[in-house]
Amino acid sequence: MNIKSIKGMNDVLEPEIFAWRHAETLIRMHFEAYGYTEIKTPIVEPTALFARTVGDTTDIVTKEMYTFKDRNDDSLTLRPEETACVVRSLVEHNILNNEPVQKLYYWGPMFRYERPQKGRYRQFHQYGIEVLGIASPKIDAELIGMLVSLYEKFELKGLNVKLASLGCEACRPVYREQLVKILTPSINVLCPDCQIRLEKNPLRVFDCKNPTCKEVAAVLPCMLDFLCQPCHEHFDSVRDHLVRLKTPFVVDKRLVRGIDYYNRTVFEISSSQLGAQDAVGGGGRYDKLVSLLGGPDTPAVGFAGGVERLILLIADRIEQFRPKLKLFIVLPDDRGQDLAFVLAQKLRNSGVRVELDYTGKSMKSQMKRADKLKAQYSLIMGGSEIDQGFAVFRNMATKTQENIKLDDLEIELLRRLS
Ligand code: HAM
Repeated sequence: MNIKSIKGMNDVLEPEIFAWRHAETLIRMHFEAYGYTEIKTPIVEPTALFARTVGDTTDIVTKEMYTFKDRNDDSLTLRPEETACVVRSLVEHNILNNEPVQKLYYWGPMFRYERPQKGRYRQFHQYGIEVLGIASPKIDAELIGMLVSLYEKFELKGLNVKLASLGCEACRPVYREQLVKILTPSINVLCPDCQIRLEKNPLRVFDCKNPTCKEVAAVLPCMLDFLCQPCHEHFDSVRDHLVRLKTPFVVDKRLVRGIDYYNRTVFEISSSQLGAQDAVGGGGRYDKLVSLLGGPDTPAVGFAGGVERLILLIADRIEQFRPKLKLFIVLPDDRGQDLAFVLAQKLRNSGVRVELDYTGKSMKSQMKRADKLKAQYSLIMGGSEIDQGFAVFRNMATKTQENIKLDDLEIELLRRLS
């Protein structure tokens, strides 16, 4: 039988997994320094959750969801994103009524049935932030600044921060009406999807990949030109605060997000080093989502970034992230075996990364393995030295050696290695 992984769903193997570990540690530390705590929600949710929040005219909901019936005939979906899940959880547990400000982060797999290519997968992973209960534009700027600082920690180059505003329920309908007015006379040139979108959600035309629709969208007026006074002030303040943080950005009037729940601030960070799938992360404000899911009226803003795309950007430095092996114990014969067996456990329990040989292969091949694992030191326990009460401690880089008394081994190694 030749069973393979599902198309677009990848194993993460060595050495890539080292970059994943590094990324996860750095991201968690960064988010926690900003005061966020972790939330975990199930990977599977009722289908209605995404249909109602992500939007029933979006590509995610119409084409990309992994939806299936369980044995009870309930329609379930593998989560395509996490924001709706976080809000569902907070509403379900009534958390916002008691603690109206929530600062949460997550890390985990998401699923979208997209055409796989470099940087785009069917199972991918996101790290993300959701802030609930804060309406101030300062938090929008803080989040964008925080994400850019995170990417600076990863030493990413060639990033582009795009910012726009999608307005609110006061100004967006005016804009929407304008779009319908302009597009209706030429409805027939639009693709069949956009003809439906025009009726249900004309802003989605901006998200269409069809070349003709793209041409049409390129000359349409932009939401930014229709913002009401409060949305304008909010947008200006986000910009001012980004300038204060020295976070570079460009206003991109045609920025579209593939999800419907946004209002006011939207942003995306792309990389010039990624090719077609260049969005490293993105997010925005979603002030109506909590009430849509039955919770108290709560402003909210967040973002998510793609782990796989981040890993692609640090792949050239992958060897840096390989865990460092401190000590490889070489056993040329069976004289040091029992001592080494217990010593390795003691050192490991003290946090020293130690490998030892169980294969009984030649000393030469054990030394080769120590080199391959990039051990900093080796300890040769056997031969005539062990009969004289010594083990040989060798610095693998300088190739210098010293004898250490067997009685002092544990203390001396801990002193040198921990
Ligand atoms: P999104 O823009 O759909 O936003 O996804 C965020 C990031 O996930 C993208 O910028 C990209 O790096 C990564 N990503 C998306 N799809 C794929 C894929 N098929 N393969 C690999 N990576 C992918 C959201 O998901 C929102 N929930 C973000 C948010 C949080 N907005 C407010 N709060």
